[in-house]
Amino acid sequence: MATSTLKIAAIPGDGTGPEVTAEALKVLDAVSSIDAFAYDVEMLDWGGDRYLKTGEIIPEGGLDLLRSKHAAFLGAIGHPDVAPGILEKGLLLELRFKLDQYINLRPVKLLPGVETPLAGRGPQDIDFVVVRENTEDLYCGVGGFLKKGTPDEVAVQQAIYTRKGCERCIRWAFDYTRKRNSPKKTLTLVAKTNVLTFGHDLWWRTFQEVAKEYPDVKTDYNHVDACCMWMVKNPDAYDVIVTTNMFGDIITDLAGILQGGMGVAAGGNLNPDKGGVSMFEPMGGSAPKYTGQNVINPIAAINAMAMLLEHSGHPKSGARIDKAVAHVTGTKMKSQAAGKMGYGTREVGDLVVAALQ
Ligand code: IPM
Ligand code: MN
Repeated sequence: MATSTLKIAAIPGDGTGPEVTAEALKVLDAVSSIDAFAYDVEMLDWGGDRYLKTGEIIPEGGLDLLRSKHAAFLGAIGHPDVAPGILEKGLLLELRFKLDQYINLRPVKLLPGVETPLAGRGPQDIDFVVVRENTEDLYCGVGGFLKKGTPDEVAVQQAIYTRKGCERCIRWAFDYTRKRNSPKKTLTLVAKTNVLTFGHDLWWRTFQEVAKEYPDVKTDYNHVDACCMWMVKNPDAYDVIVTTNMFGDIITDLAGILQGGMGVAAGGNLNPDKGGVSMFEPMGGSAPKYTGQNVINPIAAINAMAMLLEHSGHPKSGARIDKAVAHVTGTKMKSQAAGKMGYGTREVGDLVVAALQ
């Protein structure tokens, strides 16, 4: 892939999504000329505005269009005039499910100069990765109402776990832990086996079985509630966490704030199979009230672009961006919170570009 043109679909999305996407693309352009690779970006106008105009979220042929690319980049979705859930389910979750992006990879790394709410902690203490299953669990949309709107109403929303779904995620997490090769070399399963005695029993048994194939990787287990406590108390104890979709959603917001918040946190929705298309995104939302103000931190989007390159055959370019970002946060920026960066969105993009060489 490294020798052919890297084909990317970019969905800038809603609110401030387009502004941060522009900075990520600016950095992509700069790194592509330094490392001499060709790329092509097709911009897609999917999101709230298009939905309000046309009633369509993913246009016909949209999934096949994405399948023809090496990777996708998503800015942010969420529009003040669209009811909650419509774009989330119709776009983000639809893409995760239909493209079978079964790994949600969320690195949690405190960069130099970035503030964490944890007193006395620095970059050496906060450097772990959450591997979140991304296609099952309470997210599968199975359920329904009975007697809706009456006093006897019943609502059912089911968590579905399959052997295939948890096994492929757990195996990928073991491989990743092995490759990451941190001195801890530990994969921690986070679940709730003491209460979810069916679904999480499947996870537990699968984890134990797959672990036998990885004698060089240490294993650990945390109940999800205890994990929330340990993550605050001893973040330095974690190396790689593997967990279910719903718990992964929750603990990665906690983890995200430990690394400085939504201005820096990025993630990848991976389909690691041959020919699979992965999608990378800053973790933050569309922050519509800040649209056009040049105040949103683009570092998260730039980090997402670094991940895209790392997972699409250009790991050196991804690492080059990581290094430039750490230089900028460590030496130039005041704080990573929105509006307090000391620079505007575009200026931060320029600083990263200048630090790439
Ligand atoms: C995330 C988000 C999504 C999720 C929402 C927007 C559907 O919170 O990527 O973590 O719950 O997965
Ligand atoms: Mn979330």
